[in-house]
Amino acid sequence: MDIYRFREVCGQILKAAGEVFVGNELLLRKVLCASLANGHVLFEDYPGLGKTLLAKVFAKVLGCKWTRIQFTPDLMPADIVGTRVWKTSVSDFVLERGPIFTNFLLADEINRAPPKTQSALLEAMEERQVTIEGVTYKLESPFFVMATQNPIELEGTYPLPEAQMDRFLVRLSTGYVETLDLECEILRRRIKWRRDDPIELIEPMVSQETFRAMQKLVETDIYVDQQIIEYIAKIIRATREHPMIEVGSSPRGGLSLLKLSRAHAAVCGRDFVVPDDVKIFVYDALNHRIILNPEYVVEGTANVKAVIDEILSKIEVPKHFLRR
Ligand SMILES: Nc1ncnc2c1ncn2[C@@H]1O[C@H](COP(=O)(O)OP(=O)(O)O)[C@@H](O)[C@H]1O
Ligand SMILES: [Mg+2]
Repeated sequence: MDIYRFREVCGQILKAAGEVFVGNELLLRKVLCASLANGHVLFEDYPGLGKTLLAKVFAKVLGCKWTRIQFTPDLMPADIVGTRVWKTSVSDFVLERGPIFTNFLLADEINRAPPKTQSALLEAMEERQVTIEGVTYKLESPFFVMATQNPIELEGTYPLPEAQMDRFLVRLSTGYVETLDLECEILRRRIKWRRDDPIELIEPMVSQETFRAMQKLVETDIYVDQQIIEYIAKIIRATREHPMIEVGSSPRGGLSLLKLSRAHAAVCGRDFVVPDDVKIFVYDALNHRIILNPEYVVEGTANVKAVIDEILSKIEVPKHFLRR
């Protein structure tokens, strides 16, 4: 697949997703970029804002094998990874694979399960393998997770540990639709579909094989100039030096920006990264990796968005980067 065909296919995927999910194209494009970078996405927002819908839409349009786990307080780690059971016919333990053995995992309401269960998932996300009773099993490729959660103040939830948030490539919020017209559009579509869950109406836009090839193109064919690399590194370092930030971004945050910006270049039909590919992801890739200094939070003077904007405004944007 060449880059022109790549862009065309991405256009088809975004169009199909937009026919179900009402909202801004940019959000859909960001989710697509994260998937193309084989990264995990966390959707965080209040109930009813379309998080589950959006994850399901992508599960369908990307044509990958997918499963869904609904996280509940009584969900056990084995319900995710599986168990080894004794089979008399072969006189041996065999693996009963849990739902994690898939390509696209929708982990719904991830913060409703207790920490032990969450960590079974988070380990698999990082290592792309699971260990069950001492035996290690590799997960399939591609493997990526789209998880949803309600904001942590809501009752009956277990906040994800800060250290494990780092495993998500991006944390996105779906947000409310912006205009009255779009609000109406959600209602009109419901009338057209005659059902609450329109997922059966969505056709895959690519095969799993093609999708895998697209991920590979992002990984191997998109040029990143030295100046762009420096730009990313400066942004990451600035989060560690800002007075309002207590804990800045990990190096993994920088790697995330790199992956996302390459995917975005490809989605735009370019085989090289420009500074805007980086900029549009800075907030999404870093907001869950930064901990503000509690002094400023109590005062109410700091918020992550403003701090990131300030950092970006102070770093010179590269101009003479190579395009190939
Ligand atoms: N942006 C949107 N576009 C289309 N439908 C939406 C949108 N936001 C919410 N809905 C509809 O609202 C309902 C709730 O969405 P859901 O994805 O279950 O929310 P959440 O998982 O965030 O609680 C669904 O029936 C969904 O179809
Ligand atoms: Mg939901």
